[in-house]
Amino acid sequence: MSSTVVTGIGELLTCDGMDGPVGGRLGLRHGAAVVVEDGLVAWLGTATDAPAADHRVDVGGRAVIPGFVDSHAHLVFAGDRGDEFAARMAGTPYDGGGIGVSVRATRAATDDELRALVAARFAEMRAQGTTTVEVKSGYGLTVEDEVRALRIASEFTTETTFLGAHVVPAEYAADRAAYLELVTGPMLTAAAPHARWVDVFCEPHSAHAFTAEEARAVLLAGREAGLGLRVHGNQLGPGPGVQLAVELGAASVDHCTHLSDDDVTALADAVGTTVATLLPGVEFSTRSPYPDAAGLLRAGVDIALATDCNPGTCYSSSMPFVIALAVREMGLTPGEAVYAATAGSAKSLRRSDIGRIVVGGRADLTVLDAPSHVHLSYRAGVPIARALDLSGASTGVAG
Ligand code: NIG
Ligand code: FE
Repeated sequence: MSSTVVTGIGELLTCDGMDGPVGGRLGLRHGAAVVVEDGLVAWLGTATDAPAADHRVDVGGRAVIPGFVDSHAHLVFAGDRGDEFAARMAGTPYDGGGIGVSVRATRAATDDELRALVAARFAEMRAQGTTTVEVKSGYGLTVEDEVRALRIASEFTTETTFLGAHVVPAEYAADRAAYLELVTGPMLTAAAPHARWVDVFCEPHSAHAFTAEEARAVLLAGREAGLGLRVHGNQLGPGPGVQLAVELGAASVDHCTHLSDDDVTALADAVGTTVATLLPGVEFSTRSPYPDAAGLLRAGVDIALATDCNPGTCYSSSMPFVIALAVREMGLTPGEAVYAATAGSAKSLRRSDIGRIVVGGRADLTVLDAPSHVHLSYRAGVPIARALDLSGASTGVAG
């Protein structure tokens, strides 16, 4: 067992401060050091008190924050929908219909092609400071193709989500009930051993997605199969997704673009159970209004930030981009945005070992080429964040 002390930390954000407003929970320290042993944080405190360790990594005055937790991503897909994005920017609204294009391309790809695409997307994320990623299926929509997507996702993450109820595939368009039977029956049975979560695109504003009653059936069947619940809700307009997620005790309801006052109240009452996961890259990429993240915080709602990286509504894998949007467009302070992208999104995955830098937790550290976390939004678009690789740690400056 070898240990590494990380020193030269200009600013450390543990996201594990005292309870209270988010600013108070940032756990901001100067002159700190962190000792890592076997991938876990073994010690943290003032650098001058740091215990001896086998290796030393000096980050040269840079800021260190918890690795980003991207708690909503659809990475198992093939094909390209750049034309759909261009059409959208010219005024064609998003309605979920393009998902079928990705389904066809994904079904046609070989296992090795899909695996290589997922690997490249994971590498892209890590290079931007993300250390945990949730990955959904949902571009297969047959028993075999959904299981295949989850098997491949499981090679990269334990946070796998069965999204057979992404849309009703074209071959079932005339018989939605039959697809619902498949997705809550044989497809779920085959997928459940490879998934931690079940998710559903609950969206009455899309002819392709699922109504509240259909979504309820999917979630109840998923729960019966032992899966935790997540919901895509209130994306294209006001809708039932948030209320359904809260009623069923889902861990997260994602998008929350269009919220009524009752939805906000329900989310505030659900604190500790259901997190509102905001995906501002989607509002950016679909030219939609941004939800009022600051208002949600004021109302006492637990919020998270994630990319939703997918070929349709947001083909960005960048958590720093999401943080910059949350600050510029959604009213969060830079600290609140970093908290939501780390501890907040960890909470949406019901994980306490990630998203914070805490003794006994995972040593997922992200280094910023900057003196402060503020630079993530201040220097928007500049690649300053990267996951710290301690695997080859030796005395010297981190590479
Ligand atoms: O989260 N809304 C549903 N699913 C994705 C988009 C998928 C796609 O368009 O390919 C989302 O936005
Ligand atoms: Fe999504």
